[in-house]
Amino acid sequence: VPAPRVLSGIQPTADSFTLGNYLGALRQWVSMQDDHDAFYCVVDLHAITVEQDPAVLRRRTLVAAAQLIALGVDPASSTLFVQSHVPEHAQLGWVMQCLTGFGEASRMTQFKDKSQRQGAGSTSVGLFTYPVLQAADILLYQAERVPVGEDQRQHVELTRDLATRFNGRYGATFTLPEAYIPPGAAKVLDLQTPEKQMSKSLPPSGGVFLLDDPKVTAKKIRSAVTDTGREVVADPVGKPGVTNLLAIHSALSGRSTAELEEHFTGRGYGDLKKELAEVVTDHLAPVQARTTELLADTAELERVLAAGAARAREVAAPVLADVYAKVGF
Ligand code: ADP
Ligand code: NA
Repeated sequence: VPAPRVLSGIQPTADSFTLGNYLGALRQWVSMQDDHDAFYCVVDLHAITVEQDPAVLRRRTLVAAAQLIALGVDPASSTLFVQSHVPEHAQLGWVMQCLTGFGEASRMTQFKDKSQRQGAGSTSVGLFTYPVLQAADILLYQAERVPVGEDQRQHVELTRDLATRFNGRYGATFTLPEAYIPPGAAKVLDLQTPEKQMSKSLPPSGGVFLLDDPKVTAKKIRSAVTDTGREVVADPVGKPGVTNLLAIHSALSGRSTAELEEHFTGRGYGDLKKELAEVVTDHLAPVQARTTELLADTAELERVLAAGAARAREVAAPVLADVYAKVGF
């Protein structure tokens, strides 16, 4: 039985990924690569759906790729590439747009959120059709599984609807992908606004960035919003801030929440924060060192990405050719 095909992407929309990206997605990319035929991409086409700067985008794309490798994505066991290097994404994206109903696209809740933040005058059509391009990203590789957070489930549903519609109209072509919430994926909350998800691209930012200076990280953790109580116990409703800190600790140290509650019995939030800052910065030190090393030789990094794009095209090009032929091109 061939290993199940998996596709996932991340936007180069910040100078660094966050602990949320890592614990909610990227760590699972790494653990899935051995028993999956994994395609992982830095989705730079998606990154221009909002305001952008060319030099910054170019830099962030490389930094994103370097961080992925530093976190453990192995270009020898997964296909790691940059979306714009594989023109079939945009090509299939157009075909998919022509298959998508306007009302259907209008129902995507992430667009409603993001466009409100952009303001009506600066919302692009690209932001509106973003989920359709995402569908093309997935279908181009006949991915069976798409590891996603809850926030992306609706887009995988749209992908399945579009695949079903295409298959019905033109004959069996696309594999129907399944949203896959990998075991151990943690939802990380913002340290300053623990009712919101930590994000690399959205304010507010109580976000812990993987490439932040350890002093900055320690300070962010020290000043994390907690509640007025003093007991270190998990209680998502009453103590979302403390619960989030415990969840991050648990995800990185591998110790269960119960074990940590026991460990912090009779000690306060200050102790939890101090220890967590150490756990986080110890964990990130080798990732930062490896990222710096990879970025010191961008020519080599670009070669790795070019090889990834070539492998990706071996799969993508025949799928697109089949689609074009079926559509009548
Ligand atoms: P961001 O909002 O940080 O810009 P993206 O939309 O690029 O993140 O998402 C990249 C991946 O990281 C997605 O799979 C998403 O579900 C996951 N992710 C983002 N933020 C978090 C978080 N705070 N906790 C868990 N997973 C997250
Ligand atoms: Na693999």
